[in-house]
Amino acid sequence: MIDTSSTRAYTSWWQARSDAWCRLEEASGQLAAAALAGQAADEMLETTSGLLDALAPVEQYWAFPGPEANGQVRDLFASGDYGRFALLVARITRALVTESYRTGTGWSLADADHGEAEAEDEAAGPAGHDRPARPYFEVLVVDALTATQEHIAREEVRGWRRPSDHFVYELVVVGSAEEAVVAARLNANLQACVIGRRFAAAAGQDLSSLADFGDGRIAADLADLALDERYQVLARRLARLRPELDLYLLTETDVEGTAAHLSHHFRRVFYAQERSLELHQSILSGVAARYRTPFFEALRHYSHQPTGVFHALPISQGNSIVSSHWISDMVGFYGLDIFLAETSATGGGLDSLLEPTGPLRQAQQLAAETFGARRTFFVTNGTSTANKIVAQALVAPGDIVLVDRNCHQSHHYGLMLAGAHVVYLNAYPLHEYSMYGGVPLREIKSRLLALRAAGKLDRVKLLMLTNCTFDGIVYDVGRVMEECLAIKPDLVFLWDEAWFAFARFHPVYRPRTAMRAARTLAERLRSPEYRAAYERYAAELADADGESLLAQRLLPDPARARVRVYATQSTHKTLTSLRQGSMIHVHDQDFAQKVEESFHEAYMTHTSTSPNYQILASLDIGRRQVALEGYELVTKQLESAMRLRDAIDTHPRLSKYMHCLSTAELIPADFRPSGIDAPLRMGLASMTEAWETDEFVLDPSRISLYIGPTGIDGATFKREQLMDKFGIQINKTSRNTVLFMTNIGTTRSSVAYLIEVLIKIVRDLEDSAAEMSPTQQAAHARAVLKQTGAYAPLPDFSGFHPAFLDRRAGTADGGDQPTPEGDVRRAFFLSYDDSRCEYLQADEVGQRMEAGQPVVSATFVSPYPPGFPVLVPGQLFSREILEFMRSLDTPEVHGYDPEIGYRVYTGKALEIAQDERA
Ligand SMILES: Cc1ncc(COP(=O)(O)O)c(C=O)c1O
Repeated sequence: MIDTSSTRAYTSWWQARSDAWCRLEEASGQLAAAALAGQAADEMLETTSGLLDALAPVEQYWAFPGPEANGQVRDLFASGDYGRFALLVARITRALVTESYRTGTGWSLADADHGEAEAEDEAAGPAGHDRPARPYFEVLVVDALTATQEHIAREEVRGWRRPSDHFVYELVVVGSAEEAVVAARLNANLQACVIGRRFAAAAGQDLSSLADFGDGRIAADLADLALDERYQVLARRLARLRPELDLYLLTETDVEGTAAHLSHHFRRVFYAQERSLELHQSILSGVAARYRTPFFEALRHYSHQPTGVFHALPISQGNSIVSSHWISDMVGFYGLDIFLAETSATGGGLDSLLEPTGPLRQAQQLAAETFGARRTFFVTNGTSTANKIVAQALVAPGDIVLVDRNCHQSHHYGLMLAGAHVVYLNAYPLHEYSMYGGVPLREIKSRLLALRAAGKLDRVKLLMLTNCTFDGIVYDVGRVMEECLAIKPDLVFLWDEAWFAFARFHPVYRPRTAMRAARTLAERLRSPEYRAAYERYAAELADADGESLLAQRLLPDPARARVRVYATQSTHKTLTSLRQGSMIHVHDQDFAQKVEESFHEAYMTHTSTSPNYQILASLDIGRRQVALEGYELVTKQLESAMRLRDAIDTHPRLSKYMHCLSTAELIPADFRPSGIDAPLRMGLASMTEAWETDEFVLDPSRISLYIGPTGIDGATFKREQLMDKFGIQINKTSRNTVLFMTNIGTTRSSVAYLIEVLIKIVRDLEDSAAEMSPTQQAAHARAVLKQTGAYAPLPDFSGFHPAFLDRRAGTADGGDQPTPEGDVRRAFFLSYDDSRCEYLQADEVGQRMEAGQPVVSATFVSPYPPGFPVLVPGQLFSREILEFMRSLDTPEVHGYDPEIGYRVYTGKALEIAQDERA
């Protein structure tokens, strides 16, 4: 029997399909050999036919091997000609596995008896053409074509090809909107879609085996619509799934009128009766537009120009290296091109990062299109710098900023430098794993409402949150913004997407990215339906008190709300870019009037005047990659992540000692109204439902492995087991977890290696347990208890000392409630005078607190892991903080040396600071 688990697909059919073909090759080979010996058994036939059945519903969505070859495979099997059947299956499988079909040379399958050598020649490309392979893609045609019409269309496209074309493509034809959606989901080779006039709403065959990849509603939604409306609905659905696809419309009537009112959905509208050459050229030029990398190309061109270098860059053109007697191995290692491209020239076809007007500007514009932003800025010093640029651009001294206390240190430093008055927000804790989740919307709203009650809302400027968090907790970005704007209509949002640049390229993730959520919100606020809904809501809510405002969903006033959203992304963390390559994406309706100048100043403040061009070029080319294959890479990444989760959690030996933390374990049920505990594991449709509904969801590509039962803590497991013994790198651990991040470079082999390593670790553990003396056994049991038992609770933000609080009454509505925002800059710089500080050991801190004296940190104190500041300058120590710090066994605590103690303010310094404040 076939193993159906391996033909299961989570978000991509890539692994399942390739496995099924490989097993079909194996099965058909055995069948052919058995038939030759006159021993073909029923069981073999059953296995083979099972595999053919498993492949049948999906194969129509790919151009290769295509309907004709697939038909031939089935016919040969049915005819009992197992020898030719096996040969054909082997050739197809080889072409799929080696991807040689991507040469687009077409397949003549008339004779399945081709010899091996011939088959390989064919796969390698047309004889006599020794040219590099051209990128290959597929074009979806949605139209009810007969088999003959389909054949003619394919041949016509092949006939248009020219040797000078930069790309080559093949067609995939489906006859209905339902199948078009399935094709867009399954076939990552698609780059364009041509919608014809005669497509049906519903598929002619049963699609239930692909239900996860379909759109259960589209057939019904289209059923009674006029043709023009059908075009629009289908175009919108496809754009929602794969916004990068170039959409073309072929119409047979009134092409001019159709173009006039539908052109915003389509790249071009064509008259179906005319020759398809123009369409063919448009398809190629659509892909070429995404393929363009203006800065990378300019740099490459520049690097091959002979230039005399008389500025301060000896390495430029490799000059200081190639003739060196001692460092020429540098060229051997890196290759010459990287040095030829070392320059900081701003002319000669290149551009200036600080004032881009040429290829760099174009590269940033292309990035904005790809990432769905209005503006995009490249940053060459990581998101650490990107965050500081945005903070400085938006925040003036004294502005109030709400920020997750567990955010990356760059936010803390950025806000300190900007002179923000900071309200730290508390994320929900996961005490058992010593991790934090996200900041509940209720917490954010309650802070905003308190600031409103205190009359300080006019000073509130910015909300900063991390999406997704290091551990993969993802916010409902649109909802957070919507409800916050209902309280503070001009609030600006900075979403730290250091870990989330890839999310744009998966349809389920995309709505939870800042740029897509901003666009959706702006469209919603503009719509007449929303305005009407708002009028009703405003009338009902007129007298609502604080508690009901917290409890119910708030709607912003469309007449006042501004959509002002920023996202910072470490492109280098999740996509292709050299280290430190990051982007700032902007969707701010007031950018030009209110921010552009201060943004420019902030950019100048933090950007090197000698930026690294290799990093910039890598951002440009990384953008090209995701514009063309982002969907493929991300769906494959998720598929690998799910396979890794499955392999660990279903392995009888591994699962005794470790398991992958699930959504239910990392997100309390209160935040998951969908009630779905393991969204993607239950299928893409469940994932979609949870991601549309829940306050928080888990990014399944990040796997927190719970290792409590091993008795080894996260940091030791990382260092001694994974790194030292097996060379596996990870960068986040907690008390009893280690985090495995899959990425777009994760291969099946690397997943397999990780499983192998985990099994070896467990085997070693079991071996050493078997030889333990009773004393050792007792020690081991204690170690396990330590990792799995009671734990010091994670501390909330304790509060600022009054010397750093702003007790000014608000101005807007005259309130005078105390609010928690602290002046971190003042608290930070006060410590520059040593006489104001002293060092206290933990016990002394405890004694002072017992005696009722406030103890106030003069520095940031950040244990790593978990990596967030447990104390910020000006913050009061609390018993919970001391206890948490005592319970940590992390070797690395930034801002605290156990030999010297905590750096705190003296009582005298605090008194003076408080008097000055008053
Ligand atoms: C949430 C978050 N933001 C920003 C950064 C800084 O990014 P970069 O390493 O690109 O400077 C990090 C780094 O780990 C991070 O985790």
